[in-house]
Amino acid sequence: MQQSMKLVAGNWKMNGVAAALAEVEALRAALAEAPASCRVALCPPATLIERMARAASGSPIEIGGQDCRAETHGAFTGDLSASMLKDAGAGLVILGHSERRQGYGESDALVAAKAAAALDAGLAPIVCVGETLEQREAGRAVEIVRSQVMASLPLALTGRDFAVAYEPVWAIGTGLTPTLEQIEEVHRAVRSAMIERLGLGISATPILYGGSVKPDNARDILAVPEVGGALVGGASLKAADFLGIIRGA
Ligand code: PGA
Repeated sequence: MQQSMKLVAGNWKMNGVAAALAEVEALRAALAEAPASCRVALCPPATLIERMARAASGSPIEIGGQDCRAETHGAFTGDLSASMLKDAGAGLVILGHSERRQGYGESDALVAAKAAAALDAGLAPIVCVGETLEQREAGRAVEIVRSQVMASLPLALTGRDFAVAYEPVWAIGTGLTPTLEQIEEVHRAVRSAMIERLGLGISATPILYGGSVKPDNARDILAVPEVGGALVGGASLKAADFLGIIRGA
């Protein structure tokens, strides 16, 4: 099976103002000195995208948004379209993060519509899936994640640059992680659902693991079969921590 480069992406969530751009400078300098063996991306709040894209310009650091609207424009106060993110300097966008699925009631169908809109705007979507603790304890993790993959990936993703991120809801921001065996089991299920949905052509599309990835567990997690990278929240805010994860890829 063809294996593409791993992708390590940082999700800054609602953190960071101008002063935080110093972390991008530090990351950039470190990667210039010793290049990463993976793709590296940072997804800051929308207010920082343009400045971060400028700070990362000419470096291997890719910039992404954290969400977009499915519509291209219109009367949607406070929201952003995919083309606005692209215009600001983003090349990627996280979609269907559990904080949006849970906090804003985003459905699989809405996530799929957003992913299609992102592709139309020239952005590579990172589509998030993951079970709750209740669902895992009921033995339904694989079933839930499979159904999210099937319904959240639009057919238009075939042949395009994108990623799926498996993020167990109970592992996000908690310091808890699944065992390496549990991660492998779900990643294999995600891969088979992706192939069922989009065909064998997506065999090299990275499946990221997300949820309490830290410098001290990244190497083991990134070595699990079918783990094609990481989506990192808290530990992506400081260049030193994020670098510790990147160096494990
Ligand atoms: P965490 O967040 O690394 O802080 O657990 C991951 C995410 O929400 O993408």
